[in-house]
Amino acid sequence: MRSLDDLLAEGVSGRRVLVRADLNVPVDKSTRAITDDGRIRASLPTLQALRDAGARVVVAAHLGRPKGAPDPQFSLAPVAERLGELLGVTVPLAADVAGDDAQAKAATLGDGDVLLLENVRFEAAETSKDDAERGALADRLAALADVYVDDAFGAVHRKHASVFDVAQRLPHVAGRLVARELDVLTRLTQDPQRPYVVVLGGSKVSDKLAVIEALLPKVDRLLVGGGMCFTFLAAQGHGVGKSLLEEDQVETCRRLLAEAGDRIVLPLDVVCAPEFSAEASTTTVTVEAIPGEQLGLDVGPRTVELFGATLGDARTVFWNGPMGVFELAPFQAGTRGVAEAVGAVDGLSVVGGGDSAAAVRQLGLDEAAYGHISTGGGASLEYLEGRELPGLAVLAD
Ligand code: 3PG
Repeated sequence: MRSLDDLLAEGVSGRRVLVRADLNVPVDKSTRAITDDGRIRASLPTLQALRDAGARVVVAAHLGRPKGAPDPQFSLAPVAERLGELLGVTVPLAADVAGDDAQAKAATLGDGDVLLLENVRFEAAETSKDDAERGALADRLAALADVYVDDAFGAVHRKHASVFDVAQRLPHVAGRLVARELDVLTRLTQDPQRPYVVVLGGSKVSDKLAVIEALLPKVDRLLVGGGMCFTFLAAQGHGVGKSLLEEDQVETCRRLLAEAGDRIVLPLDVVCAPEFSAEASTTTVTVEAIPGEQLGLDVGPRTVELFGATLGDARTVFWNGPMGVFELAPFQAGTRGVAEAVGAVDGLSVVGGGDSAAAVRQLGLDEAAYGHISTGGGASLEYLEGRELPGLAVLAD
């Protein structure tokens, strides 16, 4: 896989460079304000290096999941503004993805200028399963540039036109962010220092089963919190009240506990409430005593202590998924406690996934405490599952 430095060594001054970046940031529905600009900041090293070298930079990115047609709610306009602020230069936004306006604006770029294309998912072809449809869009994207840089680590698991097909049409290299993410994830998969502890949270156990199956033979401990813990607790025979439960996964969780129960660590207590609300009155109960009419919305203090103790001597940690509904103040102590314990690890600590990375920032924790905060949610999980990621495979050619 060629690197950005290989490209810079060739010289990019005056050349048009198409950069696929992952600028999929959370945006407030009513104000359109970006609530966490972490992914935009993570894209800066590659963009800045290209600007400094005199490239004419065209950035392609997606935001959310629009339905394959222009939709103002998913416009990249707030991202263009924030990117411009961070780069200290005006970043114009093309009115389309690779149409007349994109072509016209790309043609007027000067050395060191940056243009952002409108949300690539405004084109149905971007996510199409049909190779020819994606190929036609990739042709138009490729026509905007002389060389392609993939820096969208969070999207490398998608076989999309701007991630996969365009790389088949232009000379290509991996950007700095992709290189850094791969470097860290390789350290997790190849001979990690032990004890190796993985902490998984988030709402759905079904989303995490593949990674749990792949990781269990490799880890010393797997700590499970978040909404997904209730399906495991149900598999242990506990009543979980109105908590999130995936009935159809209980049997699988029971099998996993039978096969690797010595390595799977589940919560001891949970914070419950009668409803999903910041105003609801809360009760902390042991997992044996979850009231039938309540739902668990965070792990309790004894669990934080247990998880903290288990993380205490870890030398390698991967954490993905919040321990509770940290967006609501009464249910953030579990995520905060575990995040602090992960940050205190003496060794490599990796935070993976949009929600966990957002939790670190929103809870005001020190980002520098972590070895690496990955920008990829699904991408890092699929990498750890050992799956081939289309956006990386195509760069290897
Ligand atoms: C992410 O948010 O994980 C990436 O930006 C990919 O987005 P997607 O899941 O909508 O493809």
